[in-house]
Amino acid sequence: MTSNKEEGRGDTVHIATYGCQMNRRDSEIISSMLVGAGYRIVDSAEEARVIVFNTCCVRENAEERVYGRLGQLKSFKELRPGTILAVGGCMAQKDGAAVLKRAPWTDLVFGVHALYALPDLLEKVRAGQGPLVSVPEHPRPMVSQSGFCRREPGVRAWISVMEGCNNFCAYCVVPHVRGPERSKPPELVIEEVRSAVADGYKEVFLLGQNVNSYGADLAPRTGFPKLLELVNEVDGVGRIRFTTSHPKDFSPELVDTIASLDHVCEHVHLPLQAGADRVLESMNRGYTLDEYVSRIEMLRSKVPGVGLTTDIIAGFPGETESDFQRTVCALETIRYDGAYIFKYSTRPGTAASRLDRAVPHETVVRRHAELLELQKTISKEKIGAAVGKEDEVLVEEVSRRDSGLVKGHTRDYRVAVLEGDDSLIGKAIPVRIVGVDKFTLQAEPLQCSAVLTAGS
Ligand code: 5AD
Ligand code: SF4
Repeated sequence: MTSNKEEGRGDTVHIATYGCQMNRRDSEIISSMLVGAGYRIVDSAEEARVIVFNTCCVRENAEERVYGRLGQLKSFKELRPGTILAVGGCMAQKDGAAVLKRAPWTDLVFGVHALYALPDLLEKVRAGQGPLVSVPEHPRPMVSQSGFCRREPGVRAWISVMEGCNNFCAYCVVPHVRGPERSKPPELVIEEVRSAVADGYKEVFLLGQNVNSYGADLAPRTGFPKLLELVNEVDGVGRIRFTTSHPKDFSPELVDTIASLDHVCEHVHLPLQAGADRVLESMNRGYTLDEYVSRIEMLRSKVPGVGLTTDIIAGFPGETESDFQRTVCALETIRYDGAYIFKYSTRPGTAASRLDRAVPHETVVRRHAELLELQKTISKEKIGAAVGKEDEVLVEEVSRRDSGLVKGHTRDYRVAVLEGDDSLIGKAIPVRIVGVDKFTLQAEPLQCSAVLTAGS
């Protein structure tokens, strides 16, 4: 990382982030590096001299959004010739110089592994050496991120505990762009958690493509349950969350750890992807539906009330109508609190891109819509069952200006609102759930509802 304050000379920079929480954390690192190099962060591209896009390529529509936005910036750059346009992240890693072909007005393409070189690359572009493409294949190092202390303001600190993925699910481009799994040594994770706590963050969200295989590359090996224990012991730590879990590595030991550690929240995101074993096999997921369900049964029995969410893909190549019905049946039986449901999107270079028997587009659209509708009904029923119960809301923000409401999450990761103002932000408030509005819980502080009950 460069720390020469002369480099940016107070130039304005706008960072636009697409995709997952990993990218949000990467954008915080970009922001930290560029502020360290003398740039000033601004909220809109229009006010910025340097525009950085931190991109995603997990599905085609994510990419099309970025190329669409890049297209809009062509005329903007013609009007303001000094503007520098830098495209980074997963799409940059995947497409490399092809980004310049589609959007020749781009000044810099930097892949995920070139992240830490960004300030130097921008300097070169400013010195007239652009356009530049830097897409190293060698995975970026797992460095201490304590120095990259700029975080999104608020209550939640994103902390990346590992990067990359070894799983090569047949549809997924992530291992191709993010490289193999690398775990951050536990002492660096703890150092980061301590600094987030010292900076007043009330929740740490541990990130990795597959946190359950954390530590397999460390010597001595420290598994994810042990890491959770260490984080749980940090003085002053608030809530602890993590994502994403892979069902094949979701161990009984992890379930016991979630059940026993007081700061670890009762929510697990466990992507199922499909309900038919033959589709799971062809996706290279490494589990059957029965194995998945038995892991969930174990989780639900040891962590009562645990919030459970998932990811599902509709229309994977070769998915027959009866395979699809198995996914429907899995959603009906498992009854997730929420599910992200995606239309299958072919990603170049993946194993699935070489499969024939593509599902016709209109069938994918229909199956996707059916699953969405089904899950909506289940989510509504499940959230309705929370009314009358006691819970705890960590207040994160004012809900809407002048609404008199604040908003946050319950421990099982439902959104809840309650009356109050910004003085409540960062407080964990015991509440009773008194109603539901669409997918948002309406809560009242417990003392308040106790008073109401006593008076009625
Ligand atoms: N098509 C559709 N969905 C995908 N996902 C990953 N790759 C694809 C793809 N090619 C989904 C998976 C994963 C989530 C992050 O994105 O469900 O869990
Ligand atoms: Fe992609 Fe599978 Fe790795 Fe998740 S576990 S990032 S879906 S390859």
